[in-house]
Amino acid sequence: MSLLSALSIVCGLMLHVAFSALNSHYCVPRKTVPYQNELKLFREDGIFNYSTMLMRDDLGVLLLGAREAVYALDINDVSVRKAAVYWRVTEEKQRECTYKGKHAEVECRNYIRTLHRMNDTTMYVCGTNAFSPTCDYMTFVGGQLRLQGKPEEGKGKCPFDPFQRYSSLMVGNDLYSATSINFLGSEPVVLRSSNLALRTEFKSSWLSEPNFVYMDFMGESFDSSDGDDDKVYLFFSENAMEYDFYSKVAVSRVARVCKGDMGGQRTLQRKWTSFLKARLDCSLPEPSLPPVVQDVFLLKHEDWRKSVFYAVFAPQSSLSQVSAVCAYSVSAIREIFNEGKFKTPVAVETSHVKWVMYTGEVPVPRPGACINDVARKMGMNRSLDLPDKTLQFIRDRPLMDEAVRPLTGRPLLIKRGALLTRIVVDSTLALDGQKYAVMFIGTDNGYIQKAVNYDGEMFIIEELQLHENPEPINILQLSSTKGQLYAGSESGAVQMPVSNCGRYDTCVDCVLARDPYCAWDFSSERCSSVQSLTRSSDTAVQSLKEGDVSRCPQPDPVAAVELTLVPENNIHLPCQLHSNLAQVLWHFSEQTLHSNHKYYIHSGGLLIMSATESDAGLYTCDSVEQINGRTYNRTAAVYRLQLYSDPGVGGNTTPGNEVTNSFDSANTATPEPGPDDTGEDPPTPENLNDTGRVTRLEVAVALLSLLCLSLMGVMLYIWLRGRWKCCRFAPVLQNASERENGKQQSCEYMHIQNRSSDIKMLGPESVRPCAANNNHHTAVDFKGNGEHHFTPMANISSLDGLGYINDESEI
Ligand SMILES: *[C@@H]1O[C@H](CO)[C@@H](O)[C@H](O)[C@H]1NC(C)=O
Ligand SMILES: *[C@@H]1O[C@H](CO)[C@@H](O)[C@H](O)[C@H]1NC(C)=O
Ligand SMILES: *[C@@H]1O[C@H](CO)[C@@H](O)[C@H](O)[C@H]1NC(C)=O
Ligand SMILES: *[C@@H]1O[C@H](CO)[C@@H](O)[C@H](O)[C@H]1NC(C)=O
Ligand SMILES: *[C@@H]1O[C@H](CO)[C@@H](O)[C@H](O)[C@H]1NC(C)=O
Repeated sequence: MSLLSALSIVCGLMLHVAFSALNSHYCVPRKTVPYQNELKLFREDGIFNYSTMLMRDDLGVLLLGAREAVYALDINDVSVRKAAVYWRVTEEKQRECTYKGKHAEVECRNYIRTLHRMNDTTMYVCGTNAFSPTCDYMTFVGGQLRLQGKPEEGKGKCPFDPFQRYSSLMVGNDLYSATSINFLGSEPVVLRSSNLALRTEFKSSWLSEPNFVYMDFMGESFDSSDGDDDKVYLFFSENAMEYDFYSKVAVSRVARVCKGDMGGQRTLQRKWTSFLKARLDCSLPEPSLPPVVQDVFLLKHEDWRKSVFYAVFAPQSSLSQVSAVCAYSVSAIREIFNEGKFKTPVAVETSHVKWVMYTGEVPVPRPGACINDVARKMGMNRSLDLPDKTLQFIRDRPLMDEAVRPLTGRPLLIKRGALLTRIVVDSTLALDGQKYAVMFIGTDNGYIQKAVNYDGEMFIIEELQLHENPEPINILQLSSTKGQLYAGSESGAVQMPVSNCGRYDTCVDCVLARDPYCAWDFSSERCSSVQSLTRSSDTAVQSLKEGDVSRCPQPDPVAAVELTLVPENNIHLPCQLHSNLAQVLWHFSEQTLHSNHKYYIHSGGLLIMSATESDAGLYTCDSVEQINGRTYNRTAAVYRLQLYSDPGVGGNTTPGNEVTNSFDSANTATPEPGPDDTGEDPPTPENLNDTGRVTRLEVAVALLSLLCLSLMGVMLYIWLRGRWKCCRFAPVLQNASERENGKQQSCEYMHIQNRSSDIKMLGPESVRPCAANNNHHTAVDFKGNGEHHFTPMANISSLDGLGYINDESEI
């Protein structure tokens, strides 16, 4: 027992040291909130793929579409199911689908993909229905969900393939949808199903193997100076036509159509006359293929011109792991479509076509424009009246020359690690009376990243684990009025509040969190939600951009924990930091400690190997956090080590319990993150006092010292390798002054992110299985949050004794 458990601890610590060396700030969420049971969760046995949502604040329900089921859940508590309706495929449909070569249990099922509000009581719902898309009306009356049982053809409204991304939108009674219209998924359309149905041309210049992600409506006719029309915006990615590459390259697009479009009379009959598209630019600092748009959220403003689309982008090649968020103002998109130049195809050689800027004369009315005052003055009240010249122009040239640039010229957030998949953005009023846009971003490993951009500084307030097992977040919805987020994934739907200020238990922690929803309330001495406070700077403090804690009361000095030192033993002093961005500094009698053959410093504490009499004295654990150029020091823990034989020892040393070994104590002494900086909840000394067993361990310790030496060699090697990778990504951060300015940028380049999941390495539950049954992957949980994509480490995760060392030394 002792040797193995000892080994796993030491291994864990050493790996940790290696990780810490690679740690870099600013890309790391300040706090990591691991999975908690108190999140409200909905799931039903046997039902999967909870991927469609419709918020009905008016009815007090969240409608949740899954595979072959629709639920009405209490909007205040999604674990409460108010009603359900099941819509299963018929055996016949399933047989037909299987016969066509599709997987019976996965593809030949009915995935609910469309849920739209028709009126107070009625919804429109579509499902893939075993590769035969079908729609129906559904009512929620008297607490009952009912399908009308009047199925309609769903072709073009809902995809055939449940794995295909698509988007749709109900405007009035017109359904706008962007999906494939055929079984093979090879004929993409943007369709309006209405009395006057319209769709896109089947031309690759219009849509080329698109992946549709998002649609929204913009009431641009309101208060319009030129009699403009309302629009529907569509976001998607498709094969680039404007780049000269040998292989296919995907680009991100925004397209739009006019609500009043009726198609052309001869040219573009029953087709959009207002379909325009432009490339979305979201450039990453490192050279890479353009990232691909994954999801979009429209942050609406009372003045529609100030509304902003927030888009998440993920890399198109698995070589890169950098995701980003870029924001685009409606005005910027409009400007490109209303005034920008067009691209035009030019034949080079015989078969090849190149797209270049069109410099010739543009017909009037402007191609792709909605019917506005200019057209009306020319006697054209409907798109049907548009001249062929305008229509032919737009039929052949739907692409704008210029790309839409992001709001601030650069991404709002760049993150390495788990891919960003979904986004919602909440606008919240902070204590200073300003509104801040808070981004909630779902990842493909089941986390929500809560991030803000303070004047160009990227800051991730916290990351929250929504699911016990990593699974991608497939849909994310926000109820701003309720202050709740709803996230759907394969196994269930989870509800979480936009903030949980109670998580910050001191003024310093509350202010340093820089969470716009939270402020420290002096009267109640709690970190409270800004909404609940009377908005006054006298009674509460918040410092979002600066992270200035000077108004916080001085924290009480941390009381020293008295511990007994028994020579020759290993001693673990726990110290839990409050922030992933903080660095730990250990001091022993005026001297700063560093990890070496004697000390191992990790995020969970300090391990003193083979203590001697000279190790007696005062140890302090300081947390040093840099926020916006300022340094915050605070003492997180203090220990006084006293020799066992010392007669002056403060009473609680009982020389008797020399049975357990010190490594067990190291195991169990790692506390949960707690309010330790006030000293009110120090690590329990009982776990630490039993450092007196020398007997059996002496041999083990001697062995370990040897092991450690070899491990350190390996670590150094790995660290150097990691280092090199880091540098490769950080060509810009070469000199010190740039490093100063480029702090927020350093995020992007970070190769590996140190997380509090490191703590898992030392947690008793993760160490024990390793000791007990040589279980390979339990000792060190690199995958805790999927951020540790660190290839050289990959085969180290099996720490089954010495085998690991042999493996690595072969490199
Ligand atoms: C709601 O819409 C449905 C379908 O269009 C219609 O049949 C029903 O009469 C409408 N109900 C109300 C109350 O307007
Ligand atoms: C639905 O969930 C099941 C079970 O997790 C999974 O195997 C399947 O791939 C999912 N289907 C889609 C379309 O995501
Ligand atoms: C267009 O509308 C205006 C006013 O609504 C009307 O006077 C005019 O005759 C219409 N023109 C055509 C061609 O329909
Ligand atoms: C924080 O601690 C470091 C190291 O002990 C020290 O150099 C620095 O002056 C301290 N800063 C503050 C603000 O106390
Ligand atoms: C040492 O630990 C034992 C049990 O683990 C406990 O009863 C005792 O009070 C502890 N002594 C000190 C000095 O904490």
